[in-house]
Amino acid sequence: MAAASSGSPRWEFDLIVIGSGIAGISAAISAAEAGLSVAIISKEASVFEANTWYAQGGIVGESDDDSPELLEADIYHAGAEINNREAVRLLVQEGPPLVSAFLAEKIGVPFSRTGTGEIDLTREAAHSVRRIYHVTDRTGQAIQTALVDYLKGVKSIRVFEDHTAVDLITNAHHSRDSQELYRPTRVLGAYILDGRRAAVSAFLAPAVILSTGGVGNLFLHTSNPAGATGDGIAMARRAGAEVINAEYVQFHPTVFYHRDVKRFLITESLRGEGARLMNRRGEYFMKKYNPKELDLAPRDEVSRAVYREMEEEDSDFVYLDARGIKNLALDERFPGIFEQCKAAGIDIRSEPIPVIPAAHFFCGGIKVDLNGMSSLPGLYAVGEAACTGVHGANRLASISLLEGLYWGVRAGGDAARRAQKLPRSLLDSIPDWIEPTAVEEFDPVLVNQDFRTIQSTMWNYAGIIRSRSRLLRAQADLNYLSHRIEQFYKGARLTRRIVELRDGVLTASIIVDAALANPASRGCHYIE
Ligand code: SIN
Repeated sequence: MAAASSGSPRWEFDLIVIGSGIAGISAAISAAEAGLSVAIISKEASVFEANTWYAQGGIVGESDDDSPELLEADIYHAGAEINNREAVRLLVQEGPPLVSAFLAEKIGVPFSRTGTGEIDLTREAAHSVRRIYHVTDRTGQAIQTALVDYLKGVKSIRVFEDHTAVDLITNAHHSRDSQELYRPTRVLGAYILDGRRAAVSAFLAPAVILSTGGVGNLFLHTSNPAGATGDGIAMARRAGAEVINAEYVQFHPTVFYHRDVKRFLITESLRGEGARLMNRRGEYFMKKYNPKELDLAPRDEVSRAVYREMEEEDSDFVYLDARGIKNLALDERFPGIFEQCKAAGIDIRSEPIPVIPAAHFFCGGIKVDLNGMSSLPGLYAVGEAACTGVHGANRLASISLLEGLYWGVRAGGDAARRAQKLPRSLLDSIPDWIEPTAVEEFDPVLVNQDFRTIQSTMWNYAGIIRSRSRLLRAQADLNYLSHRIEQFYKGARLTRRIVELRDGVLTASIIVDAALANPASRGCHYIE
């Protein structure tokens, strides 16, 4: 199990999991139950806070009308056929049964049921059948709560809250033994900032799993929580791991819009149940853009349609009209949305909901193999931080929780199978974190402004509709900013915010560089 030394604490585990959403916790549980000692690192004050918490719509599960072939075809259709076929095949065959066996039976997620006791299946865009398990519109909360409850009973998992990963530790970058530079590079742990003590410690392990979530908060408008700043992607890149498909950032077409209210997701399953997009002139406009699939066309198409309508009307939003849904009680089926809209003064039963598209999901990420292993030995990535290739150029709705679950369990199991002890001499050759000699207290105004600059640069120049000239402008602006931020990082007393800023500007640059390198519009990368 973990061992702390005196002085500056150093920790040793068999596995370090950075991030505490469905992918990270599933990985930790499966590794711990196979015998490993595991640390879960969360930068949040509470391990409950993760992207998973905010998922509304649901997770694809088993259903009688479905088949692996049908699901596979829908995933390819949404992903513009550039998906990793091997990964998709594994997921469609083994993923839905895992929802029943792991989430429903083992962990005890209380999926919504019909009056006759069957799982209540819902539908979202680009799905050819009803196959989505949900817990009203609070699926993520229910899954996260059940996972955290379960992990409290697993003794060999230790959770570190308010701990922000600063950088991965590798032999080549960090060992004091000069010979390590000539050996194959491998990950040996991470330097981690304890927010309560304001001190950085070395956490050492033969395997690290990054499950740090996505990049939504690098854009001005997002459905994601504040912590989605691309940390894992930046850390992996600095350590030398490959990152792929970074141009594919998915925008969700319907996020609540109100000048004075924080954005929140309006689940696609509301459209699955019959809600329709309407412009401010009262026209249901999706028939102009996709007369066949209408409001349930793939997300990238719907997001662009909303964006164009907003441009045409010179408006800040369009509407989602749920007034036509008569076969279910909106306040019972969608209690979260109902209550949040009501608090903002809108009764969704009788008034249309103002919505905008917003950054939602990163389809690219750290390149991993079928076990979730990155190109760097010792480093795995799972969930949104990883790119298994399942999503291709655009993700099918309600596949992300499934992907996180499936590769979480798989990567945790693989780490346990490959468990090894690192040589003591190698561990001892890793130095403690070195503070800069003259530390400055950071000025929050500068940090916040730099963050806003990243968000508006990404939204305006690398958002839903891109062009080469906009991307070139973004690249130049981010280059300038990253130089300034790096200087700042080197001299400042570290805080979570500074770490996120440094990671955010690097991940934003990775996205922009990938978008510039790919002139072909496909899926959610659309370049004019
Ligand atoms: C939604 O509920 O609309 C989001 C589901 C997803 O992104 O998979």
